Amino acid sequence: MQVTEFMDKDHAAMEKLFASLVARGKDRQNLRDRFAQFRVRMERHMAWEEDVLFKIVEQKTGGQSILVEELTTQHARIKELLAGIAKAIDDGTPFGVLRDDLDAVMSAHEKMEDSSLYPWLDQTLSAGERDSAIASMKSLGKHLQG
Ligand SMILES: [Fe+2]
Ligand SMILES: [Fe+2]
Repeated sequence: MQVTEFMDKDHAAMEKLFASLVARGKDRQNLRDRFAQFRVRMERHMAWEEDVLFKIVEQKTGGQSILVEELTTQHARIKELLAGIAKAIDDGTPFGVLRDDLDAVMSAHEKMEDSSLYPWLDQTLSAGERDSAIASMKSLGKHLQG
C-alpha cells in the first residue's frame, strides 16, 4: 500500500469527525465525547507522523529536514488549538474562533503533507519499507478503532 493512500484515509476520517464538532443546543456532554474522539484520533495521526514518518525522512536525508521542521511546528499549533477547544468545551464557553483556526491550520497542513511528505515517501521507499512503515504506524495506535 502507498503511504499516501493510508494517510489520506485517516485524514478523511478525521475531517468527518471534525465536521461534527458543532455545538448542538445544550448537548454539552455529547459534544465533549465527539471532541474527545476527534482529539484522540488526531493525536494518534500526529504520533504516526512524528514517531514513524518524520524519523524515516530524517534517516533517508541524513539529518535535519526543513519540511519536517515546518510540519512539526504546525503539529505544535494543532495541539495548542486542541487543548484550547477542550478547555472551552469544559468551561462551556464559545469555541467557534478556535475551531475556525484549527480548520485553517489543518487544511494547510494536510495540503502540505499531500503535496510533499507523502509523495516523497512513496517515491523514496521500497515497497517493503512502505509496508513496514505502515505496520509500525498501525501498531502504534492498536488500541484505537478505525
Ligand atoms: Fe501532520
Ligand atoms: Fe497527516
